[in-house]
Amino acid sequence: MKKIIIIDGGPRKTFNTASMLKSFADGAKSVGSEVEVKTVRLYDLDYKGCMSCMACKVKGRASNVCKFRDELTPVLEDIADADGLVLGSPIYFGDVTGQMRTFLERLAFPWLSYNDYSLTAPKKMPVLLVETMNGTPEGNNSQGYGSMEFCIEGALGKPRRLIAYNTYQVKDYSRFELAGFSEEAKRNYRDEHWEEDLKKAFDCGRQMSEELSTNK
Ligand SMILES: Cc1cc2nc3c(=O)[nH]c(=O)nc-3n(C[C@H](O)[C@H](O)[C@H](O)COP(=O)(O)O)c2cc1C
Repeated sequence: MKKIIIIDGGPRKTFNTASMLKSFADGAKSVGSEVEVKTVRLYDLDYKGCMSCMACKVKGRASNVCKFRDELTPVLEDIADADGLVLGSPIYFGDVTGQMRTFLERLAFPWLSYNDYSLTAPKKMPVLLVETMNGTPEGNNSQGYGSMEFCIEGALGKPRRLIAYNTYQVKDYSRFELAGFSEEAKRNYRDEHWEEDLKKAFDCGRQMSEELSTNK
């Protein structure tokens, strides 16, 4: 049985990022029972970023999975053993959330060799990086997964990217001080794109499952 792990790096359980990841999961499960899909919500876990303990680099006992123990430990062990990985985050101030970044430090530092600067994960796997944001394709400030994307590509393989632009930040704009946004423009964009974005996420899930099912 193949396993896909979805890491939700957003705080809201039912909004844009969670919806995109749910659609991915539905697509991945639509292929049949060959693939197990597991979603982890980082905001439900109590964990720290890399503690610089260097336990992953001790001579003779180097490890490409983080040795520091907290509530992220089972997640990192699960990813080491997984066959596919999906990371999802809203864009905050141009970057992924702090929780996602903190998680990525713990995931990626053990991959990096300070002997020869190579990047080695326990195994390669298909990866999808999902972002949701206020920005549009024509104007946005997203650095996405930034330098972490380079580490992911080196260690796991070239990731696919899926972006939902110009999302609804609240359900009812009239209740909030959000005059910088035109709700009408948001609604028009959403009516044209949101279902399509969810469908793209579904299709990415189906494709990853199909790829894993055929590479048994
Ligand atoms: C703290 C904070 C910072 C944000 N910064 C940005 C930003 O820099 N660029 C952007 O396009 N959207 C920004 N947004 C909007 C969110 O990325 C967008 O609403 C996203 O779809 C929210 O995801 P969610 O619905 O899963 O929570 C920000 C939202 C918050 C709460």
